[in-house]
Amino acid sequence: MKIHSINIPHGLCLAPLAGVSDRAFRVISKDHGAEYMCSEMVSAAAICYGDKKTPKLCEFGDDEMPLALQLFGSRPDFVSEAARRISDGSLADYVKIPAAIDINMGCPVRKIVSNGEGSALMRDIPLAAKIVSETVKAVNLPVTVKIRAGFDEENKNAPEMAKALEAAGAAMICVHGRTRSQMYSGKADLKVIAAVKNAVKIPVVGNGDIFSAEAAKTMFSETGCDGIMIARGAMGNPWIFDELTAFFDGEPYTPPTINEIVGQAMYHLDLMCEFKDEQFAIPEARKIISYYIHDIPGAASVRGLLNQATSKDFMKEVLYTLTI
Ligand SMILES: Cc1cc2nc3c(=O)[nH]c(=O)nc-3n(C[C@H](O)[C@H](O)[C@H](O)COP(=O)(O)O)c2cc1C
Repeated sequence: MKIHSINIPHGLCLAPLAGVSDRAFRVISKDHGAEYMCSEMVSAAAICYGDKKTPKLCEFGDDEMPLALQLFGSRPDFVSEAARRISDGSLADYVKIPAAIDINMGCPVRKIVSNGEGSALMRDIPLAAKIVSETVKAVNLPVTVKIRAGFDEENKNAPEMAKALEAAGAAMICVHGRTRSQMYSGKADLKVIAAVKNAVKIPVVGNGDIFSAEAAKTMFSETGCDGIMIARGAMGNPWIFDELTAFFDGEPYTPPTINEIVGQAMYHLDLMCEFKDEQFAIPEARKIISYYIHDIPGAASVRGLLNQATSKDFMKEVLYTLTI
């Protein structure tokens, strides 16, 4: 798959995951074969108002490229201005120029939707299209959009939305095959993703429930999508990208051993502490590290200890007890 000149050989994309897919997560995913990364969602309004903490969320390194910076917002002037500041170097002290700007039109969280942001935009296609067209005018980067199947079961309008966004200049559409009302329940509807693929000429990325090579193959074959985006399947399991790369290349894949899993969790912890400072990283790391170990015998009691941890060294000591 290609998004303008960005080459994504196997179409393997890491999804945006607020509170999870930070720099450490993305570096590790890329190491394991993710070919395109998306940042956690960032408020366009916060960038425009000069919020001090927001640029930190936009930081990334060369080792995370190609990376799309994801913005959310409901005002075309804010989203386009935030995209301009990111892409013309105005935030250069903190933020490099990403490979693309992605706009979030799928977030189901009540606070976001009640502001008319995220998946609320699926109920206002003209406004969604205006956000995209203004942003396309403001930047020299591909502008992509992440949407859901629709707002609810009665309004699965992703194909119509995708057509309007394509006409507004979007360079790629990623579709999570659930409606906003479903949140994360039920199953992703692959038929809607296929209908989006048929409705537009730009690349379409399928998203939802890819936890295995078999599921990835089904996503490609049943929707005709150009690429796939993986979110929960990569949490504590960056090997999913190795597995999928091997699968599509017809190579064998060997899952990690317990010691490799623990070693990777420790490395993830090290990177989080390097990027964020230990005191900020530790509370977030408790959750991130738990994803790695949940299938390892003895994980339940270790999780209890991790939840009380206040230092990296203590967390590592606790993790070490899981090795064999
Ligand atoms: C913890 C969490 C955070 C998420 N944050 C974002 C986000 O910032 N932006 C976004 O577009 N989607 C976000 N999503 C949605 C995912 O990118 C993805 O669309 C969804 O999880 C379905 O894919 P999956 O079945 O592979 O998990 C988030 C999902 C989860 C579980």
